[in-house]
Amino acid sequence: MEYMKTNKIVIGNWKMNKSIRESAACAKELLDARYDLTSVKSTDIVLTPSFLALNEVKKVCAGRNGISLGAQDVYWGTGNYCGAVSAKMLSEVCSYAFAGHSERRMHFNDTDEIVNRKVKACIEAGITPIFCIGEDEEANNAGKTKEVIRRQIESGLAGVRPCEMVVLYEPVWALGTGRTPCTEDTEEIMRFVREILHELFGAGAGRGIRAVYAGSVRPENAAAYARLPHVDGVAVGTASLSAEKLAAIIHAVDRAV
Ligand code: 13P
Repeated sequence: MEYMKTNKIVIGNWKMNKSIRESAACAKELLDARYDLTSVKSTDIVLTPSFLALNEVKKVCAGRNGISLGAQDVYWGTGNYCGAVSAKMLSEVCSYAFAGHSERRMHFNDTDEIVNRKVKACIEAGITPIFCIGEDEEANNAGKTKEVIRRQIESGLAGVRPCEMVVLYEPVWALGTGRTPCTEDTEEIMRFVREILHELFGAGAGRGIRAVYAGSVRPENAAAYARLPHVDGVAVGTASLSAEKLAAIIHAVDRAV
């Protein structure tokens, strides 16, 4: 199955780790000339600070090509849902949003059905969904990784037409742990992800979909993942909290061929 690569992508996901001020400062440091991000040629950069910090980080990044903002979560309704933030609201400030990050699935009961609603809400609002999948340790040990991934993709993308999207594979056991799947296993899973997308959307229809790896990505291992034929980039949690490390990862991915 042929798959034509587009720009790669690096997503820096700060989760609930930085205040508004810290987020703006980190973005500012990242853009500093010493990290030379203007030389990045074929990699899109997405920063996902907290909802609260989106506006400030957006101001810092204004006018910088290739850097976009994303939200860490999204709600599908509008109106009387106290505390929620809708895709339509987010569309005023950012162009990406996570749908079903494994930490949302784990701590906030995001089911496959809820994730599906989030994906659809993003698409309807013109936001690129970062649709997350990944098996937990138990499923991995039981050899059920592919079963879980097929279920998550088929349910999460039910009723979704092919469109621009990021499918983010993040094995739960690799998040924030320093443990990572070997590149051979990652390539096999990412190829499998493409096969399912092919089944769902038909030949060629998945071209606008970038398949991205996450889980303990660091400057030292980023290129090895980004180089895999079926991997279009990485999402970074812990290491992205340091502008220096995030910049090193961006350059490593950009250079990886
Ligand atoms: P870590 O890089 O800390 O494993 O987190 C990855 C992640 O959750 C990306 O969204």
